[in-house]
Amino acid sequence: MIHILFILCSLLTFSAKCRGARLCVADLKGPESPAGYSCKPAATVTVDDFMSSGVGSAGNTSNIIKAAVTPAFTEQFPGVNGLGISIARLDVAVVNAGGVTAVAYASFSSATPGLQILDFALFANDLPSKLVEATTFLDDATVKALKAVLGGTG
Ligand SMILES: *[C@@H]1O[C@H](CO)[C@@H](O)[C@H](O)[C@H]1NC(C)=O
Repeated sequence: MIHILFILCSLLTFSAKCRGARLCVADLKGPESPAGYSCKPAATVTVDDFMSSGVGSAGNTSNIIKAAVTPAFTEQFPGVNGLGISIARLDVAVVNAGGVTAVAYASFSSATPGLQILDFALFANDLPSKLVEATTFLDDATVKALKAVLGGTG
């Protein structure tokens, strides 16, 4: 199993955020604000707060979009709280030519980035089909068929 260990201050040596700043490991039991989670008491911080092993394993691509996103955002990786960084692993089983799962890593300039999968955003909702048709230029039958497959209504 591959562990990814972020040595936070070595990554941020030249960042103004690191100089003189104290780490604020997320207290996931507390509320989240636009600035992130509140800080865990220092006595309860563990090495696991600075490790994320999920991105070292392939995600389950046995689903309708044949892809999996494995995030290492604040919820999975409390040590990135408030630092404005995070990563995610993407496994895609369908669009690569080699017959094997393609793997990509994405880095974000947020510890809690938003993630939208276009197929679900467009067709797994209860928006009126006419609105989706007008936005996607797809016909009514196609939009309704996609909504039926992805769990949308309307
Ligand atoms: C992958 O997901 C499918 C569909 O949800 C499930 O049936 C299967 O058990 C999962 N495989 C693993 C290894 O978790």
